[in-house]
Amino acid sequence: MKRESWNSKLGFILAAIGSAVGLGNIWRFPYTAAENGGGAFLLPYFFAIITAGIPILILEYTIGKTYRAGAPAAWARIKQKFEWLGWFQVMIAFIITVYYTAIIVWVISYIGFAANQAWGTDPTGFFLDYLGLTASGMDLGGIQANLIVPFIIVWVVTAIIMYRGISKGIEAACKIALPVLLVLTAILVIRGITLPGALDGLNYMFNPNWSRIFDSSVWVAAYGQVFFSLSIAFAIMIAYSSYLPKDTDVVNSAFITATANHGFELFAGIGVFSILGYMAYTQGVPIEDVAAGGVGLAFMVFPAAISALPAMNGFIGVCFFGALLFAGFTSLISIIQAVIAGISDKYEMPHKKATTLVLVPAFIISILFITGAGLTILDIVDAFVNSIGIVGSGVLEVLLIGWFFDTEFLRKEANQFSNFSIGKWWTYMLKIVTVLVLGFMVISNTITYMTEGYGGYSGTDILVYGWGTVLIMIVGTVILTAMKGKEGYADLTKHKEDK
Ligand code: ALA
Repeated sequence: MKRESWNSKLGFILAAIGSAVGLGNIWRFPYTAAENGGGAFLLPYFFAIITAGIPILILEYTIGKTYRAGAPAAWARIKQKFEWLGWFQVMIAFIITVYYTAIIVWVISYIGFAANQAWGTDPTGFFLDYLGLTASGMDLGGIQANLIVPFIIVWVVTAIIMYRGISKGIEAACKIALPVLLVLTAILVIRGITLPGALDGLNYMFNPNWSRIFDSSVWVAAYGQVFFSLSIAFAIMIAYSSYLPKDTDVVNSAFITATANHGFELFAGIGVFSILGYMAYTQGVPIEDVAAGGVGLAFMVFPAAISALPAMNGFIGVCFFGALLFAGFTSLISIIQAVIAGISDKYEMPHKKATTLVLVPAFIISILFITGAGLTILDIVDAFVNSIGIVGSGVLEVLLIGWFFDTEFLRKEANQFSNFSIGKWWTYMLKIVTVLVLGFMVISNTITYMTEGYGGYSGTDILVYGWGTVLIMIVGTVILTAMKGKEGYADLTKHKEDK
């Protein structure tokens, strides 16, 4: 079967950056940094980029380009016994899909709210009202009527892009969305840094509080953030690079993607923190007090900051939520494509049919997130899928490649068309440092969740939505691996010429 391909290598790079730069950069990074000591977070964060982020990104680009398939078939072509890891990664992508859409739904509503600061003087109360938030995850409280229209918009736009395919859909969307995103973010940054109090915000972001540096939870958060933000270990980058020509310089591409992604993350962070700094300044309170807010930071704290601005409040608000919208969409489509590629490559199924097979159940399940329990479920699922799912998948990936496969073979594949060759450091980094650090993290995350739960939620909520998610990931993996695919899907020699 003829595989789809990117129109150009630049198109691939843009799509990969579009995938990496997402809600994780604007919504997740600021609150994760804030919760983990602000500036003190940056050292583990950079350490995680160097020891895991970039080496794994190079690995995934090499796997995709060499084995020419989405994660499950690609892992099966490396070794048939590895296929399950591909499905585990696809399961993670599927779960992220169903809640990622919900955040984009909120963003769409908030673009409207921002225009006249509909949240008034109590943005937190407004957000909770808007969501119709119930007291527990067990009380769904029904579908929230005001979320239905943006929900339909998200799914219609997503379906249009996905059905158009790799180059006409994803690549074309990223070519439009990324420049717009950059302009919107630049407006936020310029507005932010020219406000009084901005320096306090930036100080908080960049000034390391060394007392937090020995706190293992800070390191765990840093690695989690880097994986989520780079879109690694959940099937995306393997799928994306499988549509590349064989002679692509993957090392260079990985460095460009990582630099653009983390550069953008810091850039957006500067905008967000300086505006928060301004708000703290106007309220006469320390920045620590305003910067905390967890998942609600973008929807509870930031609106208050927008209202506090001296002028152009509506405009800046629309820029902020507009940036979230464009960043979110270009990532959402990559997460869905990771799932579609998994199915279409194992069954040699045409793109459109695989797309329907993925979109319909994803749409139905995501309805859960527009009920009154949506935020609660989302917060728990996001925590478990990241700290246990993605990090677990990352450690399994480096374990299988580092210890049960010829890593040097992949290094040569990576270097074959690269201007800048990666040395043996790469192999050792993956085999030893990354395995140890990630292994420690998964174990410690699992123990923490088992003993302390998460986020103060009830034991039942954690059991159902947290451990339930882990169970679904595992059961899904087992079933999808056991299903019989199209003859020869795991045989690279039959697919070497696939374009
Ligand atoms: N990499 C994507 C993000 O940061 C998933 O949101």
